[in-house]
Amino acid sequence: MLDSVLIWADKNHRRWLEDLRHWLAIPSVSTQESHDADVAAAAEWAMFNLRGIGLTAELIPTARHPCVFATTPADLCPPQAPHILFYGHYDVQPAQIEDGWATPPFTPTVKNGDLIARGASDDKGQVHAHLAALLAWREIASELPVRLTVLLEGEEEIGSINLPTVLKQRKDELKSAQSLIISDCNQFAPGVPAITCGLRGLMYYQMDMHGPAADLHSGLFGGAVANPANALVEMLSRMHDGQGRVTVPGFYDDVAVVDETLRRQWRSLPFTDDQFAHEAGIKTPFGEAGYTTLERKWIRPTLDINGLWSGYQGPGAKTVLPARASAKLSMRLVPNQDPRKIASAFEAFIQRITPPGVTVTLTALGASSAALTPTDSPAMQAAAEALKIGFGQDPVYVREGGSIPVVGWFKEILGLDAVMLGFGLPDDHIHGPNEKLNLECYYAGIRTAAALYGILGQKLQSR
Ligand code: BES
Ligand code: MN
Ligand code: MN
Repeated sequence: MLDSVLIWADKNHRRWLEDLRHWLAIPSVSTQESHDADVAAAAEWAMFNLRGIGLTAELIPTARHPCVFATTPADLCPPQAPHILFYGHYDVQPAQIEDGWATPPFTPTVKNGDLIARGASDDKGQVHAHLAALLAWREIASELPVRLTVLLEGEEEIGSINLPTVLKQRKDELKSAQSLIISDCNQFAPGVPAITCGLRGLMYYQMDMHGPAADLHSGLFGGAVANPANALVEMLSRMHDGQGRVTVPGFYDDVAVVDETLRRQWRSLPFTDDQFAHEAGIKTPFGEAGYTTLERKWIRPTLDINGLWSGYQGPGAKTVLPARASAKLSMRLVPNQDPRKIASAFEAFIQRITPPGVTVTLTALGASSAALTPTDSPAMQAAAEALKIGFGQDPVYVREGGSIPVVGWFKEILGLDAVMLGFGLPDDHIHGPNEKLNLECYYAGIRTAAALYGILGQKLQSR
């Protein structure tokens, strides 16, 4: 049966692409209120698409953007079919043509075998590969091989703030799921599919420094009034030592030590610093002494300035002593680091290094722990087999430096380990201009998803 499903999925490339283009054309930017109606429209698009597959789909309202929730009617899968949960997100990062896009970000464009649009890789295109695979099953087998629940959220890019509430509300319907499938990540390299077994967590802060009540003349007051911009950069410059290590006391206390066998396996992955430097647009990689590039990304925590502003930014000179200075900071966390502990260590450190004459306000803008998933479950084996069918290659087992906050909450609230298999490529430019999804990867993703549900239906017994 799977063979016929795969053949039909491959025959319908044009249909999948046209369908996905419609979804990508909706600018579902979750962080900007001006796009709230678009976010709602993208949710409805997904709901109707799921209904087209035969699922029972509804929107779950939240304090901000709705979740799309769909379940499989009893007559649409075998009575013994295992219960599988699929999670994805339909919201996207902001994008404007001025950011350096060659084509309008919400006018999906095919060029050199890539589909270019905001959300093409992160995450609408990857979610759509699953929707296409489900429709193929429906069309060929008239039923689905698993009892699927689909949960799509519209707030992933803003930290999934309301998702824990939804998981708790729907706990009864979700807790019987035997496996959680997520495609919101990458292959390791072109032609090297991957299963992602770990993600870093994230602690995000805005730091606002306050000095004088209003901007002052830097000649009449400079030298006699503490400058919040000077104070800010002085504090920021104290956050790393000469070895690239974060100086927040206690920052490394709980960092999990990774065993040598695993590190050796990673060193045999097809990865070079040159290729990485090329993708990043830099001359040579940088980072904490004593670790390889992959280790720096996967198992070492970081503290990075994500934004920085103060004072006069217009053309020419303006002699001003600014009243305020601000920075956005992100800390990527690794296994065993507790975001709450890191938060209090960081806040205490900031208080301690704040120079006299200025005050600081810290606003936490989201926290999530790192995630690790077991590699030996039947669902993981199913994913490996499915990737082999979809991409024609055995997958490698990797981690990622990025974060998907919900992965930790699925584990905490529902006891579910995620199986993460991504169809994107490391150079998809997610969050940046000219985000793309390679069409071969997209079609291989559809085959993989079709195979995955077929194999899960055979491998897992319903409970
Ligand atoms: N899908 C990404 C994360 C990702 C990308 C994981 C590639 C693995 C491989 C996700 O949409 C994302 O951008 N996450 C944010 C987290 C957040 C709270 C905004 C991140 O990592 O910065
Ligand atoms: Mn994503
Ligand atoms: Mn993202």
